[in-house]
Amino acid sequence: MRTQVGIVGAGPAGLFLAHLLHLTGIEAVIVEAKSRRYVEERIRAGVLEQGVRDLLVETGIGERMKLEGLLHHGINLRFGGEKRRIDFSDLADGQAVTVYSQHEVVKDLVAARIGAGGTIIFEAEDVRADGFEGQHPVIRFTAGGERHELFCDYIAGCDGSHGICRSSIPEGALTSFERVYPFAWLGILARAAPASEELIYAQHERGFALLSMRSPTISRLYVQVDPHEDLANWPDDRIWEELQIRLGGGTGWQLTEGPVLQKGITAMRSFVTEPMQYGRLFLAGDAAHIVPPTGAKGMNLAIADVRVLARALQSFYETGRTDRLEAYSATCLRRIWKVQRFSWWMTSMLHHFPEHTPFDHRRQLAELDYVTSSRVGGATLAENYVGLPFDDP
Ligand code: APR
Ligand code: PHB
Repeated sequence: MRTQVGIVGAGPAGLFLAHLLHLTGIEAVIVEAKSRRYVEERIRAGVLEQGVRDLLVETGIGERMKLEGLLHHGINLRFGGEKRRIDFSDLADGQAVTVYSQHEVVKDLVAARIGAGGTIIFEAEDVRADGFEGQHPVIRFTAGGERHELFCDYIAGCDGSHGICRSSIPEGALTSFERVYPFAWLGILARAAPASEELIYAQHERGFALLSMRSPTISRLYVQVDPHEDLANWPDDRIWEELQIRLGGGTGWQLTEGPVLQKGITAMRSFVTEPMQYGRLFLAGDAAHIVPPTGAKGMNLAIADVRVLARALQSFYETGRTDRLEAYSATCLRRIWKVQRFSWWMTSMLHHFPEHTPFDHRRQLAELDYVTSSRVGGATLAENYVGLPFDDP
């Protein structure tokens, strides 16, 4: 088998890359370890930046998102017994975010690929990639009981944080930067109307909590827990009780409760690997970096990476020039580090850290007071939350 660009992983990064390449006439094959159903039902993030929304619309896959996605013009920060709003319309030039599940984006992208006659090999086993230093890197995998070799001009490693691409790069070629946070998020999906029209990020002495949503009838809620917490210690009643206290305690405002459809614990870390390229292998999305979810940036960063990669590949196939490919990593990393900073900052401002002293607690409250009362403070949060420009130098 042969293709121009071999893509490992059918998450948002791999699928959107294949879509962008298809629009410029470049052929790609995606090799994915899981089934179509699995990737289409995997519950992940749910907030799209303004620029990502625009990109989905411009590239012809935004129809369902425009209908079903919820446009949000602000978020709420709750702290010290008060709830204050960050107004994006006012503070970020009328931009907004769209609440639309990652797995819905994935469904739209898979349908577009298959509709356009593109190839996605699902349930590939024992996937390997090598030959990055030569002219024709190869993806090897087993499908239908047979071993296959897919020869490519370039390989895109879009296989997430536990994929095989990053670990196929020789040791010593990459440098990693990491921060592990001393807490995790316990998240639930519940059949309950969201009790607020917009998201609520709550700082509370018992720990952080977040009210988010997937639709007018489905709530997505999180509470900060110990990183080693066992789900068995959190029956539904305990989760609701903790959410009620952290999100509304003492105000008379009540969260709408309902059956819990899904429950899970997510570890929190910041991670970046540099460079995002080794020979003819390019890493994109979670394969290259992880952000803690407090800034709602994971999927948005993945889309921003592959936008840069698709343009660089287009430049190569149209003109033979490799300068944009060579600049891929540096171009992406400038934006990635700013988004890392924002995600770390939101995380630090809103969570209870075990080492916190009463001084730190007061400092957090002062910071929240500042960003919700100063125009400049609010604007810095708003402009990052709705998404920095893609081509920020
Ligand atoms: N071979 C083939 N596919 C693989 C392999 C492998 N060895 N290992 C992992 N994969 C697949 C996974 O099954 C998954 O479908 O790669 C895909 C990676 O997708 P994501 O993890 O969704 O990563 P990415 O596309 O970079 O999107 C980033 O996902 O984790 C969230 O919050 C994160 O929103 C962010 C987004
Ligand atoms: C979500 O809806 O899952 C969500 C929203 C905002 C975040 C993180 C997760 O910051």
